Amino acid sequence: MGLEAIRYSRGSLQILDQLQLPLHSHYEVLGSVQQAWEAIRAMKVRGAPAIALVGCLSLAVELQAGAGGPGLLALVAFVHDQLNFLVSARPTAVNMARAARDLAHVAAQEAEQEGATEKTVRERVIRYAEDMLEKDLRDNRSIGDLGACHLLERAAPRGGKVTVLTHCNTGALATAGYGTALGVIRSLHKMGHLEHVFCTETRPYNQGARLTAFELVYEQIPATLIADSMVAAAVAHWGVSAVVVGADRVVANGDTANKVGTYQLAIIANHHGIPFYVAAPSSSCDLHLETGQEIVIEERPGQELTDLNGVRIAAPGIGVWNPAFDITPHQLITGGIITELGVFAPEELRAALSATISEGQT
Ligand code: MRU
Repeated sequence: MGLEAIRYSRGSLQILDQLQLPLHSHYEVLGSVQQAWEAIRAMKVRGAPAIALVGCLSLAVELQAGAGGPGLLALVAFVHDQLNFLVSARPTAVNMARAARDLAHVAAQEAEQEGATEKTVRERVIRYAEDMLEKDLRDNRSIGDLGACHLLERAAPRGGKVTVLTHCNTGALATAGYGTALGVIRSLHKMGHLEHVFCTETRPYNQGARLTAFELVYEQIPATLIADSMVAAAVAHWGVSAVVVGADRVVANGDTANKVGTYQLAIIANHHGIPFYVAAPSSSCDLHLETGQEIVIEERPGQELTDLNGVRIAAPGIGVWNPAFDITPHQLITGGIITELGVFAPEELRAALSATISEGQT
């Protein structure tokens, strides 16, 4: 059994508190949408897919316990309102917003069926949320294998092994399992073609040092931790075959929001002629927005930057800017965008996704 960020069985939801990793593996029970909202906001659970999964499953738990109603109209309105509330926890990743739209639609449709009852609507919403878990895991395995094959063809066309650099945490802890960019790394390792991984510390929350390093050690994948400021030096000194990162939102022209620091990695990769890949499920793609400039970037409390484990390290009185994400322009995504549906050049994404995702779901 691999690492589990989310433990769910009908009526019961627990998350691994990622604020306590890697020192303590503590599972916290989430019994309500309010508790899930707080856990997402505090980043006890984080990563675009995991945020949506925990949000929707917390609603499933509430519905299983009988919340919402009485009456079909009141139940559908309850589902809609709870989902909108969950979206407000963190604005940049599109997965929760998209799941909210789809799930509210599913509830409204079910309520219009002949013979619909509160029980059938509840069951439909709960089932939908449960299916999301299985789909995410399936999609990640496809992303991993498709991405690994593409990367090998591009970076090691005559066979041999590759060295990959990644940022933030995109692994089992950020998803239902396996991971996206880390899924590509897992697949490369499984195929016997991975020489080494460099993972960045990912300041200020240290997703790389605390979470990705934890996953890499757990999986016994050969890896080295570097500070964010060491990437150019590591590329120049050690040589890196490709950079693979995740995404919180990929928009129609391929511009991508991901953990702050991603943009500078893309610039370094381009300077050195190394392919730069974004690995993300189609549920992280948002064809409603044209360019990255339209993406709302979450700004987090300055304290995350000035303090370490509750101890102030920055000079008192200094101003702080703490955006959680940045935008990588599509021109820098030279390897491609790895989705469960295939690997696409940024300019191919719109056509590829509109052809495969049904109307109303994009
Ligand atoms: O602030 P976080 O930790 O939620 O940011 C996570 C990232 O930026 C990930 O790269 C992204 O969500 C993809 S996770 C599969």
